[in-house]
Amino acid sequence: MQTQIIKIDPEKIDNEKINQSASILREGRLVAFPTETVYGLGAIATDPNAAKKIYAAKGRPSDNPLIVHIATPEDAEKYAYTSPLYYKLANAFMPGPLTVIMEKKSSVPSEVTGGLNTVALRCPSHPIAKAIIEATGIGIAAPSANLSGSPSPTESHHVISDLSGRVDAIIDGGSAEIGLESTIVKIDGNSLTLLRPGAITRDALLCVCEEVNIAAAVTDALKENEKPLSPGMKYRHYAPNAPLVLLDGEKQDIINFLIKKAEEQNILVLAYSEEISLLSNVNTIDVGTCNDLQTQAKRLFAALRAANELELDTIYAHLPTQEGLGLALYNRMIRAAAHTVLKVTN
Ligand code: TXA
Ligand code: MG
Repeated sequence: MQTQIIKIDPEKIDNEKINQSASILREGRLVAFPTETVYGLGAIATDPNAAKKIYAAKGRPSDNPLIVHIATPEDAEKYAYTSPLYYKLANAFMPGPLTVIMEKKSSVPSEVTGGLNTVALRCPSHPIAKAIIEATGIGIAAPSANLSGSPSPTESHHVISDLSGRVDAIIDGGSAEIGLESTIVKIDGNSLTLLRPGAITRDALLCVCEEVNIAAAVTDALKENEKPLSPGMKYRHYAPNAPLVLLDGEKQDIINFLIKKAEEQNILVLAYSEEISLLSNVNTIDVGTCNDLQTQAKRLFAALRAANELELDTIYAHLPTQEGLGLALYNRMIRAAAHTVLKVTN
């Protein structure tokens, strides 16, 4: 398949190119586009055959449901049975990086929801994503635009390297601002269950809803035979080619440990900016300063992709905090590390 690359400046939307992308989608074909979280691979959400093309292009297991992207919070009425709590969340966080799971209506084919009777809905804030959904006039089913198992794409060249030749068009629309996928919550009556942490933090959700439970799989490995609340929780995710080990300990002990390791092994360190000069003989990627969780979030997936370009024995990174945006970083990194945490002491 020939993949068309369509360049659009997010600051100066070209309506002709948006309409061109929307007509490809309306024909039941696939278009990758930027969102504020990560790039998505879109197809119209009402056509089972279009959804099947997404699974084929990504190599994604067909029981792992897709998020349906809508132009306005009210468009949820077309696809789900909403509730007052949904509108409280929508008023506070939409458009933006929040996905809400509710009971689905029959307009959503079961191919999109992996056979579940619920649907995940998200109203993105990115100007290109918004314009495309609006111009298409139908909800857009879109998972992250990576090959199944690899890190979500935060730059158009990530999408091009994963999906070129497998999809109809890829919109080159700059970097994804947040860099980690949306927060996913499931509405259960008057309470919320957090299935995937993201830029909308648990504390932010608590401003709208008194009860926000965190699904165990957000921080812990699934137990054998445990049925996950979200099918995506059970799949191997983000794992780099070389093993990733997360380090927990005092800053100086970690620096000493890494300098010693680098003498024995081919290692890469996802290091804080302030550590780079201390690790002068060590192969490093700067992930941002220790307290700058936003930058760390934005750089994580690109760093994991860059690691895969190198021949490495081990990748090391800091064990993130679970506070605020840290929980989203923790969730992605603990999975990329297959829950390998090393306590470093002197
Ligand atoms: O930021 C994002 O959410 C990006 C952009 C493109 O919007 N999308 C994204 O999609 O990350 P995806 O498919 O890579 O991740 C969606 C997750 C999967 O783990 C899936 O299992 C879960 O959402 N999910 C979708 N529908 C669900 C449902 N009805 N019940 C439980 N989990 C669901
Ligand atoms: Mg994904």
